[in-house]
Amino acid sequence: MSRVTRFLRQGALWLILLLASRDTYAADVNGNSTLNTAPPPWNTTYARVYVFQVSALPSPPAPNKLYSGLPAWQFTKGPGYLMLLKYKSSPVGPYNELAYIPGKYKAGKCSTPLFSVQRIWVDSEASVQGGRSNWGLPKELAKFNWRRFVNGTEVVSVRAAADQSLLLHGVFDPVTSGIPPETLAWVLKQELSTVPSMQWPLDKPATPTTKPLSFQLTYNPKALGFAGIPYANAARKILRLRVNFEAFTGNKTLNFAALPAGQPVGLALGGGTTGYFPTAETLACY
Ligand SMILES: *[C@@H]1O[C@H](CO)[C@@H](O)[C@H](O)[C@H]1NC(C)=O
Ligand SMILES: *[C@@H]1O[C@H](CO)[C@@H](O)[C@H](O)[C@H]1NC(C)=O
Ligand SMILES: *[C@@H]1O[C@H](CO)[C@@H](O)[C@H](O)[C@H]1NC(C)=O
Ligand SMILES: *[C@@H]1O[C@H](CO)[C@@H](O)[C@H](O)[C@H]1NC(C)=O
Repeated sequence: MSRVTRFLRQGALWLILLLASRDTYAADVNGNSTLNTAPPPWNTTYARVYVFQVSALPSPPAPNKLYSGLPAWQFTKGPGYLMLLKYKSSPVGPYNELAYIPGKYKAGKCSTPLFSVQRIWVDSEASVQGGRSNWGLPKELAKFNWRRFVNGTEVVSVRAAADQSLLLHGVFDPVTSGIPPETLAWVLKQELSTVPSMQWPLDKPATPTTKPLSFQLTYNPKALGFAGIPYANAARKILRLRVNFEAFTGNKTLNFAALPAGQPVGLALGGGTTGYFPTAETLACY
């Protein structure tokens, strides 16, 4: 056996091993996904949670194209939230996520407004499939570039996999003083420890319901509550943040100015934060 042949054989073996170890994009002969998308509930842990409060949109965002027949829910306005999360663990492994919640909506006969995710990007195909089939979350693929300098400055950029468009670019510095703890505590208690949500069933994969899916995400309030941790250690200052709001809302004229100036809208929570994604039910009041 020549050296070239041996080299090629070894190369082929490595390629086979590499392909076998990839579970993303796996499909059967019908093209059906064979991914282990992990049934609900999902327990998650986070290496980083950024929450940005976004002011109310003047009108509801353009409907997400991944849903057909999405009814016009009554948009009860903002504030909305932009969340940038680094999952340390989940039933589909670690991944990154950027999610946009414009605000709350009232659906059908329901009187209580609920959050709904308008756009959501992750960097894991298994998370796309699991999020879509378990909760109707319209997950799409994106590339996340997450860098951290020794001085604590963190630089994050997110690009959509479909067209490489920049969705978000942020530079965050650790804050050592000057953050009013009430604001952080309010956001966490009111808006983050439980997130009552609904999603319209997605076209792909088809969900066997024509009612909205409802579920309440919960984040471990103890970890979020900074028990024993000074607030300042968990907060980060937004040094620069560019958000492609057109990608989120379909409205060219909206931009980052929608964020309230001077507010500590960025929270960075470190390790120890956990989340719980329960099994979705159909919205009973609908
Ligand atoms: C797999 O795909 C075929 C053809 O598209 C479809 O008829 C079938 O229902 C799918 N099976 C599952 C389990 O989704
Ligand atoms: C997931 O989290 C829930 C609620 O916090 C908890 O009751 C449950 O034991 C956890 N399950 C696993 C497998 O860790
Ligand atoms: C930290 O280092 C980076 C890279 O050198 C720099 O851009 C940033 O301004 C620094 N941040 C602080 C708070 O000094
Ligand atoms: C887009 O945003 C602008 C500025 O806030 C607003 O005046 C306009 O009505 C919005 N357009 C749509 C289609 O929502």
